[in-house]
Amino acid sequence: MSFTPAPWPRKLRSQEWFGGTSKDAIYHRSWMKNQGLPADLFDGRPVIGICNTWSELTPCNAHLRDLAERVKFGIYEAGGLPVEFPVFSPSESTLRPTAMMYRNLCAMDVEEAVRGKCIDGVVLLAGCDKTTPALLMGAASVDLPAIVVSGGPMLNGHFRGERVGSGTHLWRFSEAVRAGEMTEAEFVEAEASMSRSPGSCNTMGTASTMASMAEALGMALSGNAAIPAVDSRRRVMAHLTGRRIVDMVKDDLKPSDIMTREAFENAIRTNAAIGGSTNAVIHLLAIAGRVGIDLTLEDWDRCGRDVPTIVNLMPSGQHLMEEFFYAGGLPVVIKRLGEAGLLHREALTVSGGAIWDEVKEVQNWNEDVILPVERALAKSGGIAVLKGNLAPLGAVLKPSAATPALMQHRGRAVVFEDIDDYKARINDEDLDIDESCVMVLRNCGPRGYPGMAEVGNMGLPPKVLRKGITDMVRISDARMSGTAYGTVVLHTSPEAARGGPLAVVRSGDMIELDVAARRLHLDISDEELAARLAAWTPQVKAPASGYASLYHERVMGPETGADFDFLVGCRGNAVGKESH
Ligand code: FES
Repeated sequence: MSFTPAPWPRKLRSQEWFGGTSKDAIYHRSWMKNQGLPADLFDGRPVIGICNTWSELTPCNAHLRDLAERVKFGIYEAGGLPVEFPVFSPSESTLRPTAMMYRNLCAMDVEEAVRGKCIDGVVLLAGCDKTTPALLMGAASVDLPAIVVSGGPMLNGHFRGERVGSGTHLWRFSEAVRAGEMTEAEFVEAEASMSRSPGSCNTMGTASTMASMAEALGMALSGNAAIPAVDSRRRVMAHLTGRRIVDMVKDDLKPSDIMTREAFENAIRTNAAIGGSTNAVIHLLAIAGRVGIDLTLEDWDRCGRDVPTIVNLMPSGQHLMEEFFYAGGLPVVIKRLGEAGLLHREALTVSGGAIWDEVKEVQNWNEDVILPVERALAKSGGIAVLKGNLAPLGAVLKPSAATPALMQHRGRAVVFEDIDDYKARINDEDLDIDESCVMVLRNCGPRGYPGMAEVGNMGLPPKVLRKGITDMVRISDARMSGTAYGTVVLHTSPEAARGGPLAVVRSGDMIELDVAARRLHLDISDEELAARLAAWTPQVKAPASGYASLYHERVMGPETGADFDFLVGCRGNAVGKESH
């Protein structure tokens, strides 16, 4: 940690718009005053943007306007001027073909809005899966002082005496219906119990994982990740965040000061300890690319390998985010990493101090939720990065969500050409498949789907489910919901739509998975593989126009974060030309 606050007072960026008596300054102030703002609010004090992903079509973020009001209280109190603005809000639950296709669009929106507007710093209001990484990516590419406040998770779901986790129980109930253990009427009845309050998914899915990543990176105040959306302390967190950003602007404490290599390594280890989503791999790689940190898949494997998963939350464990908050939340986990020598203690946070100082005094209030190491859910909780002739650029698997007996497995491939092919055939009782087979799904990567859908955890065939079997080895170039589980190999790269080896696997080929050896192998000769690849022709057509065509052309592979190639890096916050 080597941060020296900038001198204060000094002329801020916003004064390029509001300072002086020129025609342009009067033009800018005059328009802002139509909102009823007194003249002294333009006297050189920090102008703070509140970048809001509120949307009624992003239900997980539908309460964020209320939270923005609390942020404003804090900004006014600290002597700043708050200005809230909306950005495109990719919703995991309502956006097609997939919210992931629009993460980069949201990040572009954030970047251009933050750079182009008359602000000195920004509060990033996010909740649903893609909103947190998109806001961090956009803010990182501008590098004005920025701080995240999350919307917080929903309250626990309950159905017929059972605790119900977002997503996790959707998959479980869906499989139960297909296995004949639950009726469709009961499934529909369970629907309302899954989402009973404002907020994001209440499991350690991608939303909770990314809120945790923001905190572990140092980009949110300590304790931000786990406070339930409807808890009064969530409002307090927003209020305090508003106060803090004003001082961050005065100090000129920027994302590039905070999101260092050490911060990313802290986040990777935190992800292992919480049993976080595989989606964090892609998002952190993309964020790192924006701040110029050369983070790789190998860093994920190396840093996470020795970290036990100690947070007993679904989908890997039993509890939900509410219990995690009551147990002490993420600060307890970060403290445990620090005590185990697995934390860069001096990493800087938005507080202006070291991450260790934020957590060293916290206590664990429930050892059933944040487990002692002896009772860890997985000894090696990190993301396993697999390589081999089936994944030359890598693939990932989450050991804590997998079945130990399947982590070393050789099986016959049953190939599905795309998700439609899978849906058309999986319920066919004549499908030649049993539990020893390896299910292969392709053309679901960034370019293939498009947008790299969360379909990698394909449901098992009914005839296998009826035997009481709940897991099989599955391999795809797709992603998996952070709320899902299983022995699922994801992000296989290069993806099939780019002509990766996944494109030429045939039903009946033998595939070997060896997680301990980090190996994913298609058991055919090199000559045969080369001949198949030479004969391959693209199956996925490029969209003719619109955002989808831009996405198809410029999206990179998952091993670098699936960002657009032209968005990598920081383009700074230089004030643009006056246009009047
Ligand atoms: Fe939005 Fe899970 S669907 S947080």
